[in-house]
Amino acid sequence: MCRQLGQAGVRVLVGARNPDRGAEAARLLNAEGGEAASVRMDVTDAAQVTAAAEDVARSYGRLDILVNNAGVLLPESRPSESGAELVRQVYETNVFGVVRVTQAMLPLLRKSAGGRIVNMSSSLASLQLHGDPSFELGDFLMLGYNSSKTALNALTVMWAKDLAEAGIKVNAADPGYCATAMTGYASPRFAAEGARTPVRLALLPDDGPSGGLFGDNGPIPW
Ligand SMILES: NC(=O)c1ccc[n+]([C@@H]2O[C@H](COP(=O)([O-])OP(=O)(O)OC[C@H]3O[C@@H](n4cnc5c(N)ncnc54)[C@H](OP(=O)(O)O)[C@@H]3O)[C@@H](O)[C@H]2O)c1
Repeated sequence: MCRQLGQAGVRVLVGARNPDRGAEAARLLNAEGGEAASVRMDVTDAAQVTAAAEDVARSYGRLDILVNNAGVLLPESRPSESGAELVRQVYETNVFGVVRVTQAMLPLLRKSAGGRIVNMSSSLASLQLHGDPSFELGDFLMLGYNSSKTALNALTVMWAKDLAEAGIKVNAADPGYCATAMTGYASPRFAAEGARTPVRLALLPDDGPSGGLFGDNGPIPW
């Protein structure tokens, strides 16, 4: 996503909980001709999130695009065997982390001429797809992960409605099943392919949609 946004002329700030890895990502992006920097941010750490927003305010004065990408998928057993602690741990990053970061960055997004928020969701969040026996991912039954992304979709709709008058568009993106650390690189689909939908949502024109969940082929049902 950072690479593609950079290629579109966006100055990218890589939020990373490991400052060395964030700096290395920014260095690579700059070596390719982009304009990138990194900011330290563990989304579960309120003080770090506040400090990151202050950093952005000091250095840039505003934020045009926020991509809430940080997410975890922990080892999960069957939904009937998953307890509250597991669910809480997943939500701490996938839900509360997104709320924390979005709240901290909203004042900066409001200063943009057309703010955009993209929440990295999943088709596994879709209650309607899970109700369809032909859903090809219907066997991925993770109580914590799937419901955390359903909650994220709900946040997306609420923020989209609330922030419409501020000109801020809020959408959720399903990148598809991609080869990343999260999936053990088990998919033939490259992360760059998965990045296309969120990048498109990050660069939406003023007449683009808000409050939806989108994938490669357009809207995905809730
Ligand atoms: N891969 C897929 O097939 C797929 C499908 C649907 C949706 N998604 C979603 O896409 C997003 C990216 O996933 P991915 O596949 O790229 O997974 P990934 O390879 O595991 O990357 C997740 C990223 O989130 C970061 N992160 C995790 N916890 C964090 C925290 N507390 N604070 C800051 N950063 C944190 C990780 O940082 P570190 O590098 O420090 O670990 C890592 O960079 C996630 O929201 C995921 O749920 C992925």
